[in-house]
Amino acid sequence: MASFCETGEHYYRSLDVFKKKSDEFVRNIELIRNHMASVIQRLPQNQPCFNILSVGSGTGEVDMEILKIMKEELQRTQGRDQIKIYNRAIEPNEYACDLYKSSVKRANDLQIDFDVRCQTFQEYKVQGAEKLEERTKFDVIHFIHSIYYVDIEEALSHCIENELHANGSLLFMVEGPDLICWVLDKQRFPDWYGKPGDSVPESFKTVEKLCKIVGEAGWRYDVYNQEYEIDVTEVFDAESTEGNLLLDFLTHSKNFRDTADEQVVKEILALIKDLSTVKDERHFGKKMESLILIYK
Ligand SMILES: C[S@@+](CC[C@H](N)C(=O)[O-])C[C@H]1O[C@@H](n2cnc3c(N)ncnc32)[C@H](O)[C@@H]1O
Repeated sequence: MASFCETGEHYYRSLDVFKKKSDEFVRNIELIRNHMASVIQRLPQNQPCFNILSVGSGTGEVDMEILKIMKEELQRTQGRDQIKIYNRAIEPNEYACDLYKSSVKRANDLQIDFDVRCQTFQEYKVQGAEKLEERTKFDVIHFIHSIYYVDIEEALSHCIENELHANGSLLFMVEGPDLICWVLDKQRFPDWYGKPGDSVPESFKTVEKLCKIVGEAGWRYDVYNQEYEIDVTEVFDAESTEGNLLLDFLTHSKNFRDTADEQVVKEILALIKDLSTVKDERHFGKKMESLILIYK
């Protein structure tokens, strides 16, 4: 998974097509908006500045929406217009960081203090440890589809013990066992074919892993699930640029159609067809994800 995301521009172009075909961006923002009130209500009144840490921020598109939602909710619950926010973004991909910085320039109307750091969470964690006493405490820390690239237990304990404010919340958006899960599983076990079985692959048990660690540590948490569709019709058209980018995202491989073994391509396409439903001659696959809120 990590290697596909390291393809830089190609990865983000393919992610954009995936978001367009699944409406993931809108769905994620809606889910966050619907549950932001419980995060904001915990924060003290009259705090001079609210601090947010975004890990695996990508190009900043989702961060900007989260910031708007937070600002609105803070203005409403705190009963004041002037809300100061400091937003630190951790993103290792240079291409994404550059786009993030450009969107910061366009977002000066938000009156937010941005700090974009082009590094991995692992690098950030080590650097920060040297200056423990000076460390900023965050009111909200979010990992939007980025927890897959770090060790869950280490990330949780580091954030809770060193980064999170006493009244703060951790917010995770995590994928479930959907179409992508079975497409990736098929690549790991090429002989497997057919409908998904009962056993979800380990790599897609992120929600269970998070909840187990959090439950054992005695922290409180809430989980909100959602299910929707990805329009995969174009992946069956070998000439479609969007279709090939979507196929790359589903398989987490660059130029999958041209680089994978012909038989593997045939079987993956057959699997996608098999796992999708047809409506008005278009094929739709299943998308599942969960929002997990964790409180200290
Ligand atoms: C699926 S994208 C999500 C981007 C963004 N949060 C969004 O929802 O649009 C995952 C992001 O995590 C970043 N990432 C990968 N490895 C990471 C690491 N070790 N530490 C922090 N971020 C990482 C990737 O570069 C990528 O931008």
